[in-house]
Amino acid sequence: MATAPTTVPDLITEAQAVEERFLRQIFVRDQMAEWSKHPLVMARADGVSYWDVHGKHYLDALSGIYVASVGHNNRRVIEAIKEQLDRLTFSPAMHGTNPIAVQLANLLAEITPGDLGAVKFQCGGAEVTEAAIKLARQYHKLNGSPGKYKVISRYQSWHGSTLGALSASGLKSRKTVNEPMAPGFLHVFPPTCYRCPFGQQYPGCGLTCASIVDRVVEMEDPETVAAIIVEPIGHTGGVIDPPDEYLPMLREICDRHDILLIFDEIITGFGRTGHLFAAETFGVVPDVLCVAKGMSGGYAPISAMICRRPIADAFWGPVESNPGFVEGHTFEGNPISCAAGIAVIREILERDLCGNARAQGARLRAGFEAMAACHGVIGDIRGKGLFQAIEFVRDPATREPMPDGFGVKVGRRALEHGLLCRFDPNWIAFGPPLVTTGEQIDEMLAILDRSLGEVLAEAVG
Ligand SMILES: Cc1ncc(COP(=O)(O)O)c(C=O)c1O
Repeated sequence: MATAPTTVPDLITEAQAVEERFLRQIFVRDQMAEWSKHPLVMARADGVSYWDVHGKHYLDALSGIYVASVGHNNRRVIEAIKEQLDRLTFSPAMHGTNPIAVQLANLLAEITPGDLGAVKFQCGGAEVTEAAIKLARQYHKLNGSPGKYKVISRYQSWHGSTLGALSASGLKSRKTVNEPMAPGFLHVFPPTCYRCPFGQQYPGCGLTCASIVDRVVEMEDPETVAAIIVEPIGHTGGVIDPPDEYLPMLREICDRHDILLIFDEIITGFGRTGHLFAAETFGVVPDVLCVAKGMSGGYAPISAMICRRPIADAFWGPVESNPGFVEGHTFEGNPISCAAGIAVIREILERDLCGNARAQGARLRAGFEAMAACHGVIGDIRGKGLFQAIEFVRDPATREPMPDGFGVKVGRRALEHGLLCRFDPNWIAFGPPLVTTGEQIDEMLAILDRSLGEVLAEAVG
């Protein structure tokens, strides 16, 4: 048996971090055997740029992964973190909290719509979507409806990879390997108008995708349903942007059946859709709002579950009959992360980055439209603000999908040309930092256009 070293072993160098023998010590999300042939290992970042360990430059059209809301190397956020480092880095999470967490909670209560106002902090997205589900179940127990436990969510959705969040998620590629899932989760079809699962067309459809949720609730028995959880704009199905009536219809169904409506705004929160929250973009206040990613811009891990005041009030009561919200993790409300969150929110508000997301979002849309007209293989352009996607088709008239993982080929080529975006066999999405300028949007579009042109030429040739 190896004995424990008494001195710190030498670290490998930054350049060595791409060598397979050292990459064998870490898991990334892809199949490592394939990924390690061309590993992407980032070393530095500034503004909307990344540089990998070889010094190669990438334009970040994805904010890392919808995280770097205020860009990389934002000095205001870094200074706020440094200040907090000198003051307090950790507080006893089991026994209490700290002033900056209470400050951030109150700031969130001010800027979120309606009477959303009580905050549970965690570190990542899955922790808060799962916390929201637990909150809904415990709320109904406290509120005299202990039989309400089922959770309705959507196919193609992503709420995170812990087992509860995964059970709510609707991506078979990420679920099947971990089955069986937790009991009590039901899935409905999302509002994918471009490929309507009910074979209908908007607006003549009357939004079957929403009205069928009512039928599902009825068939299951409303007395057993605790919550409906949706991303206002679904990401993993290819940026599923619902018709305007969809979320108000879900709100009405939830109100009628005493079901909590949970919005997973882990991507859409903090300005991405051109308003601080997609709840405002769609004019619907959920009972619980889950945010993460862009909230701290990637400077420190933090997420938040924010619920409406009347729901939070159910968790205040005599200790003999009410244990409070039974949920928690060691790093919740971490002071460093809260300092980052406050600084990022200040940046977004004071620099009107929501306004910039709307303006640059319009520019991005125009660029995608020009690309569609030029190449003839883009069937749909979806999304809002700086969260938009294009779907590839062989022929826009028939909507027949492009074969052979076309979108992945385009996305990989774009990466070779120094552009980071989100790619899938059938679609590509952009989610650049909210600070992105018009010129940078044009540069990103130009690289995508070139990559698409090359892959098309190879497919024909
Ligand atoms: C919409 C949505 N919800 C939840 C999550 C889970 O967040 P995390 O990976 O921080 O656990 C993600 C992550 O990509 C997401 O996109």
